[in-house]
Amino acid sequence: MATFGMPYFHLFLLLLLLHTFVFVVAQTTGKISVGSFLTAGDNVSWFSPSQDFAFGFHQLDNNNFLPAIWYNKLTQSTTVWYANGDNPAPRNSKLELTADSGLVLRDGGAQELWSSGKIGTSTAAIAYAVMNDTGNFQVFDRNHNPIWESFKNPTDTLLPSQFIEIGGMLSSRKSQTNFSRGRFQFRLLGDGNAVLNPINLHGNFTYDAYYTSHTNDGGNLSNSGYE
Ligand SMILES: *[C@@H]1O[C@H](CO)[C@@H](O)[C@H](O)[C@H]1NC(C)=O
Ligand SMILES: *[C@@H]1O[C@H](CO)[C@@H](O)[C@H](O)[C@H]1NC(C)=O
Ligand SMILES: *[C@@H]1O[C@H](CO)[C@@H](O)[C@H](O)[C@H]1NC(C)=O
Ligand SMILES: *[C@@H]1O[C@H](CO)[C@@H](O)[C@H](O)[C@H]1NC(C)=O
Ligand SMILES: *[C@@H]1O[C@H](CO)[C@@H](O)[C@H](O)[C@H]1NC(C)=O
Repeated sequence: MATFGMPYFHLFLLLLLLHTFVFVVAQTTGKISVGSFLTAGDNVSWFSPSQDFAFGFHQLDNNNFLPAIWYNKLTQSTTVWYANGDNPAPRNSKLELTADSGLVLRDGGAQELWSSGKIGTSTAAIAYAVMNDTGNFQVFDRNHNPIWESFKNPTDTLLPSQFIEIGGMLSSRKSQTNFSRGRFQFRLLGDGNAVLNPINLHGNFTYDAYYTSHTNDGGNLSNSGYE
């Protein structure tokens, strides 16, 4: 028994280790390949290697979902990014990573609801995406250049290591549970000032800022805020 058993036992252990290793690697790169998709209502998400952040469908009610990134280590929902807040996707909508348009959201009838954006013809095709441990979802081309990032398309939250640059903006949502666009904006203006201002939702015009950081120097722009 012992003379026959041991080699098989070792082989078994080796296979078990290999299996575990392959499983762990597959689970923890945070890498998503072109053609991968998520379905609204399936409770399947793409996780960052540490599982701190998840990318998937945030459920609003029985039939309304938003593509979103959330902090995954709290039971209370802590959404840090979302798309198409004014136009939630119905159950069974599909969010797919495509080679030419990045993330594409389609409803059950295959009508496009949102996409992260088409790439120019001169750009190498999209190859993969990564749900990063920082909370940044990045779409890469074949040359490993990030061509779309959630960090560069913020909604109402900035995470540590995330920047907004001149022209950048955060926008409030209607309420904690309603992700439609709200009336408040945070913007970094061209003159280097960070401002908080309300907007008119019907005409999209901005009202006067109720807070200004006073970080511009009209006499010397290199003293002004830039990110
Ligand atoms: C998804 O999760 C919710 C809440 O945990 C649960 O009510 C629902 O049945 C799950 N749906 C599927 C398809 O697993
Ligand atoms: C996540 O982003 C950081 C900072 O940009 C980078 O150093 C790291 O390699 C990224 N992780 C993955 C898995 O791409
Ligand atoms: C969210 O607010 C918008 C704008 O006020 C409204 O049209 C929409 O019905 C609300 N959505 C939900 C789920 O309550
Ligand atoms: C206001 O701006 C938003 C976001 O850019 C856009 O979706 C909406 O159609 C605009 N509304 C009007 C009335 O122009
Ligand atoms: C503008 O500010 C920078 C940084 O404070 C300083 O090095 C530079 O000399 C200033 N230029 C002028 C023209 O004052």
